[in-house]
Amino acid sequence: KIEHGGAHIEYDSLMNLDEGWVSRKVFYDRDIYEEEMRQIFARVWLFVAHESQIPNPGDFVTTYMGEDGVIVARQRDKSVGVFINSCPHRGNKVCHADGGNARRFVCNYHGWAFDIGGNLMGMNAEEVYDPGDIDKSEWGMQPVAKVGVYKGLIFATFDPGAPSLEDYLGDYRWYLDCILDSDEGGSELVGGTMKFMIPMNWKVAAENFVGDAYHAAWTHDSASKAMTGGMAFPPIDFENTFHSSANGHGLEFGLDGIGDIALLGRPKVTEYFMDVLKPRMEKRLGALRSQIFGSIASASVFPNLSYLPGISTFRTWLPKGPTMTEVRSWTIVNRDMPDDIKDEITKAVMQTFGPSGTFEMDDGENWEHSTITNKGYVTRQGRLHYGCGISRKDDHAELPGIVHRGQFADSNQREFHRRWHDLMTAESWDDVPDRRSNRLKGRETRDLPQGLKSL
Ligand code: FES
Ligand code: FE
Repeated sequence: KIEHGGAHIEYDSLMNLDEGWVSRKVFYDRDIYEEEMRQIFARVWLFVAHESQIPNPGDFVTTYMGEDGVIVARQRDKSVGVFINSCPHRGNKVCHADGGNARRFVCNYHGWAFDIGGNLMGMNAEEVYDPGDIDKSEWGMQPVAKVGVYKGLIFATFDPGAPSLEDYLGDYRWYLDCILDSDEGGSELVGGTMKFMIPMNWKVAAENFVGDAYHAAWTHDSASKAMTGGMAFPPIDFENTFHSSANGHGLEFGLDGIGDIALLGRPKVTEYFMDVLKPRMEKRLGALRSQIFGSIASASVFPNLSYLPGISTFRTWLPKGPTMTEVRSWTIVNRDMPDDIKDEITKAVMQTFGPSGTFEMDDGENWEHSTITNKGYVTRQGRLHYGCGISRKDDHAELPGIVHRGQFADSNQREFHRRWHDLMTAESWDDVPDRRSNRLKGRETRDLPQGLKSL
């Protein structure tokens, strides 16, 4: 039993992942949610922007780390500043725009003005302050503790004691590189930001993307057939499909070709992938990863960044209370792709995973009701089953992370909740166990010739 911040939460009663169950309270209780803000969102590395969104000095976007609003701004020296979007005078929200380019951020209330690094530069009628009333260098907008960039993705953390971003991502970098490093120019987000609200707990979506291939063959059956002209999901295959997790980040995938890309229903894109990108990717990342990219696959970086490699949807789940989540989603492509291919992919992502997209709508309703049934007091006392494939662990020689065989399994979802439990019960990062994240420590994953055999 752990007591933090007035919450009395009996963590051992909330899940037993070796037995394969999780309490429904985890998806509904306000106390648990408040603790997540403190124990998880105020401590881990969170995705805040892609470098392509803010290429020039003064470019900025606003987003949230937990429920803390932040401004993410490109500085004059090309570094990235991330600071809390709230005025240190009376707390007003300073920047109301989603993004743009600014020389100053000026608060609407009394006219305090900040530079693009969040430093207080001046205020309206500055003469009302007598000498000694304020030291401006101490009253800027509050910066985060650390900002890190991994191959175009900008992350930030509020915790000065957090491990390095590279260690935080750990072995998962090997998989993440499939979308960030498959071609020389790296990746970019295109087509603007799509924003929508779903009345669900944020974890319902995050754990779906980290490893729920199971729902795809049922929830998305009709939409998949419509997009592919009748192709059914591949048969259950325990030889060539896997789940892999490292510290709660995870990917479920096959090694069997072009599943996800076919779901976009755009022959031109499939052709580009097979004839141009795949050979390049094979050279750059090895054959194994070029197979993973094209298979049916889905992924999450703990806690709330998710994507589908071949489908190119890329999104973050912003918590807005225990039963509300704001989705921000983008299309991710390679910078080196020709414009007409980027355009085809953008349209296809809108059609499938836009707010009114075929697949997005399939999911939204299920996720909403998976949250809201737990409003029932008696319902909420029950457990949810996470036991599928519990004995299918596989120490695969070539795949990093904690690997399970078979794409239809709850393995990564169990690892997601294990990481959640680790963080919720840890006093500091020193207490957080490393769950197979550091085989790649200090290595550039691109330089590994073929899988991990060389390690
Ligand atoms: Fe921002 Fe007063 S609250 S200037
Ligand atoms: Fe889905």
